Amino acid sequence: MESAIRTEDLCIVYGKKTVLQGITVDFPKNSITSIIGPSGCGKTTLLLSLDDMIREVPDAMVSGDVYIGKEKTSSMPQSELRRRVGLVFQTPVPFPFSVYDNLTYAPKYYGNRDRKNLDRIVREKLEMVGLYDEIKDDLWKSALKFSGGQQQRICIARALTADPDVLLLDEPCSALDIKSTSIIEETLKKLKEKYTIIIVTHNIAQARRLSDKVVFLKDGRLIEEGDAGTFFNSPEHPDTNDFLGGVYG
Ligand SMILES: Nc1ncnc2c1ncn2[C@@H]1O[C@H](COP(=O)(O)OP(=O)(O)OP(=O)(O)O)[C@@H](O)[C@H]1O
Ligand SMILES: [Mg+2]
Repeated sequence: MESAIRTEDLCIVYGKKTVLQGITVDFPKNSITSIIGPSGCGKTTLLLSLDDMIREVPDAMVSGDVYIGKEKTSSMPQSELRRRVGLVFQTPVPFPFSVYDNLTYAPKYYGNRDRKNLDRIVREKLEMVGLYDEIKDDLWKSALKFSGGQQQRICIARALTADPDVLLLDEPCSALDIKSTSIIEETLKKLKEKYTIIIVTHNIAQARRLSDKVVFLKDGRLIEEGDAGTFFNSPEHPDTNDFLGGVYG
């Protein structure tokens, strides 16, 4: 399958500590890839390496390459990379202003000033995350005044307003209840028709429910990767077996 984004021999060193070692992995287009592994194995660091956030981390040294399609991200302008890769954090952090202003922030930044056009973007992206009907009368209310699950979906919708190719999510459901989690999971399954989704999750059951592909990291190394069926049903590496069996993690 065609890859939307991939890394080649990616290494990340924080100060003197090597956090990712020789990671070569690809993330297929229009699919959901889950990154799993024990705490501290480098999952968040790998996500940050896929967009420009790693450049903002003091002391982070990056070697190897990340490609979006055929282009190296290191030679892309930062604004281009920011647009093409969206990142959603574990704790939703809407900007402290209205839902409408959250969702039009990026479009305005990219020069979109037409009110009708902005209205359309707000509606379309909220519909994509299944929120429009729920909150259409509250678009001018502060985004901070919604529930955790709603805020998380507002943040996903906001990430989509830049029209990214790739959406990165770092444990987006870890602070949510079962109902909000299942709404987000359904949302992601719909979104993969249009976007490539990469999600870090601690929840193995969630990775089973959602993933087309799974990437398992341990101690900064890629231990095993593969399509979800094969990965979960017949993992090859003993470390994968131990992790899935709950021996550590
Ligand atoms: N800014 C930083 N400076 C130095 N070391 C860091 C920094 N950020 C992370 N680390 C270290 O890098 C390693 C990988 O961290 P990372 O956050 O990528 O792990 P993780 O797999 O996301 O863990 P968790 O499941 O707990 O979120 C850890 O040992 C961590 O302590
Ligand atoms: Mg993390």
